[in-house]
Amino acid sequence: MKAAQIKEYSQDETIFLNNDVSMPKIGEDQLLVEVFSASINPFDSIIMKGYVKDLIKTPFPFTIGGDFSGRVLEVGQKVIGFKQKDEVFGTALMLAGGSGSFAEFAAVSPDRVALKPKNLNYNQAASLPLVGSSAVQTLEDEMKLASGQKILIHGGAGGIGSISIQLAKHLGAYVATTVSKKDVDFVKNLGADEVIDYKDDRFEERLKDYDAVYDTVGGETTNRSFSVLKKGGILASMKGPPDEELSKKYQVLGVAINTKVNTEHLNRVKELVEENVIGPQVDKIFSLDEIKEAFVYKSGSHPRGKVIVRIRS
Ligand SMILES: NC(=O)c1ccc[n+]([C@@H]2O[C@H](COP(=O)([O-])OP(=O)(O)OC[C@H]3O[C@@H](n4cnc5c(N)ncnc54)[C@H](OP(=O)(O)O)[C@@H]3O)[C@@H](O)[C@H]2O)c1
Repeated sequence: MKAAQIKEYSQDETIFLNNDVSMPKIGEDQLLVEVFSASINPFDSIIMKGYVKDLIKTPFPFTIGGDFSGRVLEVGQKVIGFKQKDEVFGTALMLAGGSGSFAEFAAVSPDRVALKPKNLNYNQAASLPLVGSSAVQTLEDEMKLASGQKILIHGGAGGIGSISIQLAKHLGAYVATTVSKKDVDFVKNLGADEVIDYKDDRFEERLKDYDAVYDTVGGETTNRSFSVLKKGGILASMKGPPDEELSKKYQVLGVAINTKVNTEHLNRVKELVEENVIGPQVDKIFSLDEIKEAFVYKSGSHPRGKVIVRIRS
């Protein structure tokens, strides 16, 4: 089968298309899926650059990629809840018990998969597993965001931000978001009430007494976010634990999110999509043969929402 692989860790994204990869063999507690579509996440580049090499036991070359949508081809003997031909979406990330999603076929763990939303095509469905699960886990499970509360979402035009704005509006929150100038209309159309250009404006000079900050950016943005919150507010970061001293000083809860792409979160994403609460945000679709171009586009073109790699039509 064809798969996009790496043969070394490198700061340059040295992904290549291997036309001669063995079909993944599944264990009795796995599914084999025909992958129809996959999407790129920043974590794919983190793997390629070797930042998590200590966690990866597989020898080079290996297939990368997490998010996918596809159809179940084979069901391991011990798996319950899925059958052949089920249309599914989820993660085939190697670190989540999968064999990598930028491939014609993937072995996946059934607890990292759910039935695909009925109203989405495969490309749209592949855009959602990691970013949808992140939004649900942070806004619903962690923050318990409620009607009338105010939230600042950093990186509103990104994969996670663009889904989180929609979910926060559905939960009844007032939403401020930071984006670059070209994305102002994009996030307003998603429902953002207040949009701040992160290059020209300082968000902390405009916003105060917020209940929650969802930080998908990190670095100095995280530290500058504390003063936006009211006492008892919450700062949830996708980029590691917020500073403990600052959390104490401002009397807020600082939380590092570690997204779990699991059946429960994916089912919640499916439900929200089928109720038209959240819609997938697909910027551009590449074919598997164009995998290198897809990564260059993702890292250099500031896409809105997600970049998709179509594996089969
Ligand atoms: N902890 C976890 O489990 C976990 C899970 C998923 C993702 N993550 C991390 O979360 C981050 C966001 O993920 P994603 O999929 O949403 O990434 P993404 O699609 O690449 O989006 C990032 C967004 O942030 C914007 N941005 C960059 N600098 C900014 C700034 N200073 N202020 C406001 N916005 C800024 C970018 O806009 P421009 O393009 O205009 O610069 C882009 O729209 C990534 O770093 C990812 O690795 C962590």
